Amino acid sequence: MVKIAVMGHGVVGSGVAELLQKNAAHIAAKAGEEIVLERVLDLREFPDLPYADKFTKRFADISDDPTIQIVVETMGGLTPAYDYVKACLLSGKSVVTSNKELVAQKGDELLAIAKEKGLNFLFEASVGGGIPVLRPLDQCLAANEVSEVAGILNGTTNFMLTRMIEDGMQFEEALLLAQKRGYAERDPSADIDGLDACRKICILASLAFGRHVYPAQVRTEGIREITLTDVRLAAAVGSVIKLIGKAVKNGEHVSCTVAPMIVQKENLLSDVRDVFNAILVRGDAIGDVVFYGRGAGKLPTASAVLADVIDEVKHLKARKYLCWSAGAPDYAIDFGLLPARMLLRVRAGADRKADLAAAFGDIEFVTCDALPQDELAFVTSAMTEKELEDALKAVSGAEPVRRLRLAEL
Ligand code: HSE
Repeated sequence: MVKIAVMGHGVVGSGVAELLQKNAAHIAAKAGEEIVLERVLDLREFPDLPYADKFTKRFADISDDPTIQIVVETMGGLTPAYDYVKACLLSGKSVVTSNKELVAQKGDELLAIAKEKGLNFLFEASVGGGIPVLRPLDQCLAANEVSEVAGILNGTTNFMLTRMIEDGMQFEEALLLAQKRGYAERDPSADIDGLDACRKICILASLAFGRHVYPAQVRTEGIREITLTDVRLAAAVGSVIKLIGKAVKNGEHVSCTVAPMIVQKENLLSDVRDVFNAILVRGDAIGDVVFYGRGAGKLPTASAVLADVIDEVKHLKARKYLCWSAGAPDYAIDFGLLPARMLLRVRAGADRKADLAAAFGDIEFVTCDALPQDELAFVTSAMTEKELEDALKAVSGAEPVRRLRLAEL
């Protein structure tokens, strides 16, 4: 029998407790041992639950209990999750977490402690909710040199963009609907400003390339600025707008971004609708692999957490090798240095077309009914952000309105 504790009885934590009770026999058979929920840490009280007697408000009831071998952290945020997880590892307990902020900020340090102590620190649920992606990336694709990881990593924004694309909803209307359905928080900034996707691409890049990429090293842009005009211009070039997280290996360096991008209809990611996530991994032997499914939700996420718990139960003596080393300020290179084709909207009259063509070289003008009369839109050839800014400066009075990168996946 292995005793576990759950810290944080929110959506995911309660899902873990529920699934562990519901599928107890099956989980025990998979783990080779019975897994018992010994403690649940939460400041709130849940007197009606069948495991109400397991609740505590004191972290010490978990950290000081030598019979608890595995701790599940589903509190979210850095404080106090970071201190608690570190203390658990230092006191000899393996940890499973769904907390992407914790792993994206502190993964290297916590993995190093786990390694030093001969323990496991696993976090499959931190990326893609219930979609198995970290373990396949680390184990099944281990023989590949991975050159790129890219995907739709946030369900809320994908739902909103889908409603804008398919139903012609304005951004605000799509956000209200996402909130009504329980996808977006009342303060939706972590989703719509790209922070959630940023944390996920940090974890994917760190695992794929072996060195920690921190959130501050990712050029992050959300979807707040995206309008129906942008959506319709994308349609005019046979594409859709998706919030893409992308990490590219660049020699000994890595470049990461999160930004709304133009995804051509032929690309698999363009068909990923509503709250679904999809993560594309490009390996030198396997080619492209795409992991697809529900990236959030109580039971899908709990399923990933419990799979990690089962794995840790099976590896209480022999540590699983999942690790990456610390990052460095010069490891990550600005994504804007990578050339890409851009869809550009500028405030300029039709008489400026020749000037724009002279400054940008090979461009293709695009239009749609929604494009304001005083604007021009066009797709450039591949260029860096700096080249784009220099070209814009060369056309006096052409004020940029929007710049969207073509995803080129
Ligand atoms: N808010 C996240 C999303 C939940 O919408 O994808 C899972 O991280």
